[in-house]
Amino acid sequence: MDSPPSLVCRELRLRGFRNYPELDVAFPPVGAAIIGPNGSGKTNLVEALYYLEIFRSFRGAADEQLCRFGDDVFHVRGRFEDPLSGRSLEVTAAYDKRRREKRVTVDGVVPDRLGGALGRVGMVVFSPSDVGLVSGSPSERRRFLDIVLSLNVPGYLAAVQRFRQTLKQRNALLREGAPAGVLEAWTIGLVEASAQIMAARARWVSDHAGLFAACYERVGHEAPARLEYRCSVPAAASPGTDVAEALTAELERVAQREREQGITLRGPHRDDLGLAREGPDGWLDLRDFGSGGQQRTAAVALRLVEAATVREARSTSPMILLDDIFAELDPGRSERLLELIEETPGQVILTAPKPSDLEVRRGALTRWRISSGKIVAAA
Ligand SMILES: Nc1ncnc2c1ncn2[C@@H]1O[C@H](COP(=O)(O)OP(=O)(O)OP(=O)(O)O)[C@@H](O)[C@H]1O
Ligand SMILES: [Mg+2]
Repeated sequence: MDSPPSLVCRELRLRGFRNYPELDVAFPPVGAAIIGPNGSGKTNLVEALYYLEIFRSFRGAADEQLCRFGDDVFHVRGRFEDPLSGRSLEVTAAYDKRRREKRVTVDGVVPDRLGGALGRVGMVVFSPSDVGLVSGSPSERRRFLDIVLSLNVPGYLAAVQRFRQTLKQRNALLREGAPAGVLEAWTIGLVEASAQIMAARARWVSDHAGLFAACYERVGHEAPARLEYRCSVPAAASPGTDVAEALTAELERVAQREREQGITLRGPHRDDLGLAREGPDGWLDLRDFGSGGQQRTAAVALRLVEAATVREARSTSPMILLDDIFAELDPGRSERLLELIEETPGQVILTAPKPSDLEVRRGALTRWRISSGKIVAAA
């Protein structure tokens, strides 16, 4: 955890974003703690910052919803800086709801493809809704995997895009009862993209299961938890397996059922992550048997692993955005999470409804108050 900090946000400018008609803030390099009542705009601010990382809402909201009520367009602009080298980066995003048009620039240049502009800054968001990563459906965990790996593993995003397109076509052919020869060409394409995705997922899980267990143990102060890859082709889950071969064999095995049901039954769209904690008689799935706090701790551990993934991929630390997560953890867990985050270099932007939740960096963070979309320095 001794990698240098990466980019820090120095300025953020919002126009017509959620409850912000206009906002111009200058962040100190170490970060800021933003305190404000429910509904004041804390999550909206975090959402705007992270928009510059993935050009989508981290809470899964459609772009239209991000336009301030009554406005048709929003703009977000961030100026980021590397505190060591002085290198700076400007990322902007704008969305026009009437034209359904998104425009992104990186240092003033419109990227050829949006995919090429993703993850330029390096940020990780911790949010209360992360508990859904543990308690929610497999699709939430797949979305998590896809975002983390798309931002940090070269070629992953392109493989996901190829996979989605091929899956759609192949499912349509299965529904139509297309001849075997026609289907086969799409199966080959599907297997190629799927194998790349599944191999990357298997590698990521096997490289990070130890760290996940350690983070869970450290924050939770209980026995380690387990992270495993529940691959829809079990033979493909262990690294080193020929994933394409295993998936091809599995698709042949279920070919008849696929035709009957008109859908592709094996592949990355059927994968899951297993999250379990040690119980008296063996492993207990946290989705079914975790307490609220244990589920939140596992979610935090996943985010810490995500931060480590960013560090490994870029050799620099990500910006950490903590949206009101301490109220959800018991005081011991909050304290240990804060300690862990304090050990990590990088800017921290943290929000909370009450100041007592904010004893981070021993009070080093500048404190701001927020109310109705306006930010002022705290007295
Ligand atoms: N498109 C929009 N236009 C204008 N206001 C919006 C829009 N979308 C959400 N809001 C409002 O923005 C306000 C702030 O929302 P936000 O989620 O940021 O609050 P918060 O400070 O995080 O509150 P909490 O502490 O309850 O999490 C809410 O009152 C919400 O209704
Ligand atoms: Mg909020």
